[in-house]
Amino acid sequence: MKKIIITIDGFSSCGKSTLAKQMANELNYVFVDSGAMYRAITLYFLRNHINWEKTEDVVDALKEINLEFQYNDHSGKSDMVLNDENVEVLIRDMLVSEHVSEVAAIKEVREFAVDQQQRMGKRKGLVMDGRDIGTTVFPRAELKIFVTADPAVRVERRFKEMYEKNPSITIEEVKNNLEMRDYIDSNREFSPLRQADDAIVLDNSNLTRDEQLELALEWAQSKI
Ligand code: C5P
Repeated sequence: MKKIIITIDGFSSCGKSTLAKQMANELNYVFVDSGAMYRAITLYFLRNHINWEKTEDVVDALKEINLEFQYNDHSGKSDMVLNDENVEVLIRDMLVSEHVSEVAAIKEVREFAVDQQQRMGKRKGLVMDGRDIGTTVFPRAELKIFVTADPAVRVERRFKEMYEKNPSITIEEVKNNLEMRDYIDSNREFSPLRQADDAIVLDNSNLTRDEQLELALEWAQSKI
């Protein structure tokens, strides 16, 4: 069977990673959460007080960053490892979420991450989710999915997820963060979030996880 590259892009909290992970499991493909890389870089910048408005400081800091994915048997997905430290939980923190879109808009940061992402796709058999995967990282991917969902549904989903880790979080905070990230991600100069011309749109507002998986797998099977 032919191995392909599947890209899943879309706004924040549309369930992209969930779908990408499920598809990778079903197809026995590698799953890569590209957002985790931008989150790990942001964590490094915050911890080391890097002034990301200064290009020189960004370039120097990126030289000190090593990103790896490490398979976790328990969760069935790969954890983000930053300079030998498993930061999978830390990168989901609100502080990182508040700054990640600013950091991800920096040209040098994008070049650093995209280069690694493209290398991961060399052998195909990959499902990667993010914002610019079908447009910039793998413009020639065999299957591109653009996921959307009603904003209220997305806020609710994200709130539930964040509340489990931090019960003091409010729905307003979650809503503001999603709106801010979507705005910055869609309006940045380098690889803004947009639907690739040849992407299939998947609106999952009224779909269960299983229903959306079934649909996406049908599309994948037609390309394999
Ligand atoms: O996917 P996730 O919401 O974890 O991504 C966090 C942030 O990383 C996004 O809001 C966006 O700013 C950035 N990102 C990006 N390009 C990608 C994936 C994520 O700019 N391919």
